[in-house]
Amino acid sequence: MSLSLVKEVHRRLTGVTGPGDLCLDATAGNGFDTLFLARQVGAEGTIHSMDLQSDALLMTGSLLEKHGLAERVTTHLSCHSKMETVLPPDAKGRIRAITFNLGYLPKGNKSITTKAETTLPAIRNSYDWLARNGVLSVLCYLGHPGGKNEEQAVRKLIQDQGWKDEAIPGNESGESPVLHWIEKT
Ligand SMILES: C[S@@+](CC[C@H](N)C(=O)[O-])C[C@H]1O[C@@H](n2cnc3c(N)ncnc32)[C@H](O)[C@@H]1O
Repeated sequence: MSLSLVKEVHRRLTGVTGPGDLCLDATAGNGFDTLFLARQVGAEGTIHSMDLQSDALLMTGSLLEKHGLAERVTTHLSCHSKMETVLPPDAKGRIRAITFNLGYLPKGNKSITTKAETTLPAIRNSYDWLARNGVLSVLCYLGHPGGKNEEQAVRKLIQDQGWKDEAIPGNESGESPVLHWIEKT
């Protein structure tokens, strides 16, 4: 994972999320982004956290338990392209921040990665679930198979939709990851 861009995502989320907010982590993984969001929203807030691997949700659940924050998070074993089947309908248009951290589960099965064909519909749907002025954070990695194509497809989707986006490259040499920071206007 790109630590510098993960930190940048958290730094930016600090400015836009706060007590009582509703947020979605669309790629739970080891749970670090979910934990970060759970701290941000406080006891009155709610986090939904999704992953298609049960191993990821186990890691996320135990991290949250360790920090005593499990009760403000609902986890969903699901592909993020099917978010409308697991999220409560009244969350639509109310989510303050949605995070995607693409690629594979660190220390997990590296052959299971996000893929453009499900990442794209998931990101497109996410925009509809955001509140006005909400943010969509998409951290793309280019190193895994299909990663470059996935990032190009994400970039094209953003352009086609005319979304307000800031593309921030990581500072790694070689195939640097890219963060897309999208604000719903
Ligand atoms: C880079 S990891 C996420 C890291 C995580 N945010 C953290 O803080 O530890 C990417 C995750 O995306 C998950 N994933 C891959 N395809 C997915 C899909 N279609 N829907 C939901 N999760 C998916 C993987 O199982 C993996 O756990």
